[in-house]
Amino acid sequence: MAATRDFDIVVFGATGFTGELTAAYLAENAPADCRWALAGRNTEKLEAVRKHLARLNPACADLTLLRADTSDPASIQAVAESTKVVITTVGPYLQFGEPLVAACAAAGTDYVDLTGEPEFVDLMYLAHHDTALASGARIVHACGFDSIPHDLGAMFTVGTLPAGEAIKVRGVVRSGAQFSGGTFHSAMGAMSRQGEARKALAKRRAKEGRPEGRKVRWVQGAPGRDSVLGYWLLPMPTIDPLVVTRSAAALDSYGPDFTYSHFAGLKTLRYTIGGSLAVGSMVVAANIPPLRNALKKRIKQGDGPSESRRAKSWFTVDFVGESGGTTVHTRVSGGDPGYTETSKMLAEAALSLAFDDNPPTAGQLTPAVAMGEHLLARLQKAGITFQVV
Ligand SMILES: NC(=O)c1ccc[n+]([C@@H]2O[C@H](COP(=O)([O-])OP(=O)(O)OC[C@H]3O[C@@H](n4cnc5c(N)ncnc54)[C@H](OP(=O)(O)O)[C@@H]3O)[C@@H](O)[C@H]2O)c1
Repeated sequence: MAATRDFDIVVFGATGFTGELTAAYLAENAPADCRWALAGRNTEKLEAVRKHLARLNPACADLTLLRADTSDPASIQAVAESTKVVITTVGPYLQFGEPLVAACAAAGTDYVDLTGEPEFVDLMYLAHHDTALASGARIVHACGFDSIPHDLGAMFTVGTLPAGEAIKVRGVVRSGAQFSGGTFHSAMGAMSRQGEARKALAKRRAKEGRPEGRKVRWVQGAPGRDSVLGYWLLPMPTIDPLVVTRSAAALDSYGPDFTYSHFAGLKTLRYTIGGSLAVGSMVVAANIPPLRNALKKRIKQGDGPSESRRAKSWFTVDFVGESGGTTVHTRVSGGDPGYTETSKMLAEAALSLAFDDNPPTAGQLTPAVAMGEHLLARLQKAGITFQVV
């Protein structure tokens, strides 16, 4: 069915901060014969984006514009049925995401997003995984900084260790960067719903079960100084360890007994205490509605860090892998994590689904399971480094 689609890729949310960066990445990097289009709810804004893209690549002057609003199911179905792959940057995903996941699962259309909201991913698994399995759609969430460097970095680390042994990996994130209004609103929403998120995860676990004959665990870990890396570690209960352990559960190559722990890495104990307090304050603010609303009013959706700020931003994710007496230290690194590198990762994930000869899979999948080595090779070529240190 996909061969008859009008487009290879549609970018939904192209008028937003990250959507426009993703479209700009495609304008400059998609193969010339890639058929792609822009979708959004505001045609005037879409026209302005297309004009900007035409300055980067004159061929973009002819891009098709699709009007689609998440509150109009027919418009979302039309997007899903028009293309092989949909990229969506329309968030917060808990608020706006489900109609497109449902339409892609039904239409057999591949789907990538940028969600870092675990509850959304679990609810989509419960509601649409079976439909996607039946239609052949690959629904791949978390294709930005959440969680591609962590997911592919853990996969890369496992690949450097002896096969068939128990494996322990810890991932340690460091970055210097700013976030956008859209990310702030999504994070506030997710932090205010931790009880709901736990319920969705429990329901998912009951339905999904565990891998047969193998153990896979996320161990939260304790704060302290890392003996190999020298950083102070702060446990990070983000979506990343969930994604890494889902890849481990799906892929036998992670061995018979796989454990993953996930941390922020800080240079000094003082930063570690400051970081804990900052995260704690955000969680408290997110759970007091007047405070949450006041903060959301001050930080507007659609805004994000300037090009010059992004040019100075950076990230590293260090992994320490231990197996059968061997210890390995690997690192994934790149530039501005939240936007420049995120839009690259998202666009390359869509290009991989559209054009690479990936393993035959369907349903809700992690990036490592859906695109694994092909996506890793694409990102290396695009300037994101995966290395043994
Ligand atoms: N996890 C990561 O690594 C990562 C990194 C970056 C971003 N993100 C996530 O990506 C999402 C987008 O972030 P952003 O900063 O780009 O946000 P943004 O600038 O606010 O963009 C949101 C986009 O959604 C569109 N939209 C909103 N409601 C819609 C609706 N009902 N129907 C159709 N389109 C609608 C907006 O259209 P209009 O222009 O018409 O308003 C805009 O194009 C957020 O959820 C953020 O958390 C995640």
